[in-house]
Amino acid sequence: TVPLNYAAQAAGKLYFGSATDNPELTDVPYVTILNDTAMFGQLTPGNSMKWDAIEPEQNVFNFTGGDQIVALAEGTGKIMRGHNLVWYSQLPAWVTATAWTADELTSIIQTHVTTEVSHYVGKIYAWDVINEPLNDNGTFRSDIFYDTLGSSYISIALRAARAADPNAKLYINEYNLEYSGPKIDAMVQLVSDLKAEGVPIDGIGIESHYILGEVSASELKANMLNLTSLGVDVAFTELDVRIELPATDADLEQQKSDYTTIVSVCMEVADCVGVTVWDYTDKYSWIPASFPGYGEACPWDENLVKKPAYDGIVAGLQS
Ligand code: G3I
Repeated sequence: TVPLNYAAQAAGKLYFGSATDNPELTDVPYVTILNDTAMFGQLTPGNSMKWDAIEPEQNVFNFTGGDQIVALAEGTGKIMRGHNLVWYSQLPAWVTATAWTADELTSIIQTHVTTEVSHYVGKIYAWDVINEPLNDNGTFRSDIFYDTLGSSYISIALRAARAADPNAKLYINEYNLEYSGPKIDAMVQLVSDLKAEGVPIDGIGIESHYILGEVSASELKANMLNLTSLGVDVAFTELDVRIELPATDADLEQQKSDYTTIVSVCMEVADCVGVTVWDYTDKYSWIPASFPGYGEACPWDENLVKKPAYDGIVAGLQS
């Protein structure tokens, strides 16, 4: 069978990658597959670069987990997506428990972003600087950042990231951009506004957490082109396709077809730089814990055996 990163690069893309997480790195059979750079050319840490892991107390930084994943990537010739710098979730209590003034929170964001990006300078291909800033209805998400600073927190973080690593690609990462409606419209408007204001923004991450059978290639492609026409890259950053359990053979065939459809859209969009699965195996998928009754979302099963979805991805990469 054709390895995924090899096939992606043969098709002119930068990478095919996977999320991973530090506790998984003691699983030798898992790591053996992960380390194969013909298979995966890029890693995203699932948790260990998030704010609660990196700055658990104000001005106390712990890069241990992130460093471990960067070392793994460097040792196996992979590029890194840094995930993430500013997000409403997985914030340590010290950030959320205080009613900061706008000036105080600006400085907190700048310190966090500058310190983390500087620590990894030169080692991160792309940063998810802002994660999930929008509601599905297209308004900005109410969180400590927006409620204190309005949407200016986005430019504050992006400018700090650019200053700390001028060569890293700076992304906003979001879910449900796959579908037409107010959320993708709002993201297009946000990118357009940031560009008009001269704020550094290089890409939009389309998370791509799909439900079986709900892929529309035309919708997805149109949304991606609306973004890339503004002069940004796009990437599928957290791809998976969840199935209502128990999964039948027909479901696994539908999943194969869904993966082909999604991946082939990246092939059709010149500025889609690559595809990342949100871990490659059902053994470590986030789905069962977050969507009870759903699972089997990844291209390898929980015994690290390739599913039909694997061949679906290859077909998409070779389309
Ligand atoms: O670290 C604690 C550990 O100390 C504790 O013993 C354990 C007990 O539950 O929890 C651990 O924290 C968990 C953490 O992952 C680290 O393993 C949290 O409970 C758990 O909720 C958290 O889940 C992560 C989730 O983000 C949190 O929002 C998933 O692993 C991670 O895959 C997921 O990733 C997100 C992306 O960052 C953004 N897009 C959506 C995606 C899926 O939710």
